[in-house]
Amino acid sequence: MRNVSEFNLTKKYIEETCSYEPDFFNQIRDSIIAAGINEMSIDADSAQFLRVLLKTTGAKNVLELGTLGGYSAILFASIIPAIGHVTTIDNDVRYQPLSQGNAEKTGYKDKITFICNDGLKAMEQLASEGATFDFFFIDAAKNSYINYYEWALSMAKPGAMIVADNTLWKGEVPDPDKTSNPIRAMRRFNEYVSQDERVDVIITTTGDGMTLARVK
Ligand SMILES: C[S@@+](CC[C@H](N)C(=O)[O-])C[C@H]1O[C@@H](n2cnc3c(N)ncnc32)[C@H](O)[C@@H]1O
Repeated sequence: MRNVSEFNLTKKYIEETCSYEPDFFNQIRDSIIAAGINEMSIDADSAQFLRVLLKTTGAKNVLELGTLGGYSAILFASIIPAIGHVTTIDNDVRYQPLSQGNAEKTGYKDKITFICNDGLKAMEQLASEGATFDFFFIDAAKNSYINYYEWALSMAKPGAMIVADNTLWKGEVPDPDKTSNPIRAMRRFNEYVSQDERVDVIITTTGDGMTLARVK
């Protein structure tokens, strides 16, 4: 098993070798920092991974849990076809002007619906309205990942992709001596999804670790 420093070395190599961030994505990061908000948008290598994945799957309708400053939502909107749409959910009202302002500045506001609500409540509402999606990005409350995943499955079209971020937590999830809440939540999630016969699953070392579940 690789240790944490090997994990970081590999990550650094991938970032330096093949990650790509258009200028306006750097501006989104800067806007988050300037607003005094903890900058926890996905890394450039995760963005590149998601770019390739979205293009490969041909996904059109994306549901995201965790908007923050809009980095990943705007990334998705910039990749999916013109007829596609992104719905993104965040429970923190302070992030709404920032994320919506970034979407406006980058020209993607019409392609993104911003929902300000608790992730589980918003997913329940969307499911009750009969909404369906072909790509899900789970990046909000770590303790709710299994519940987000179940709601995602209930709204997934066959062949849909469910991607969960931070599932290796800086490479610490495999270390039995690490027992913080998010690490235990990520272990529970990875085990739950890996045993689920409704999906094909892989855990990747991209970014902070991403778990991919493709709905059968
Ligand atoms: C890591 S950030 C999302 C980053 C974003 N996906 C990106 O890469 O640009 C996590 C976000 O989840 C949101 N969040 C945390 N708990 C939540 C909950 N219960 N419901 C909805 N959003 C939540 C936080 O407010 C925060 O903005």
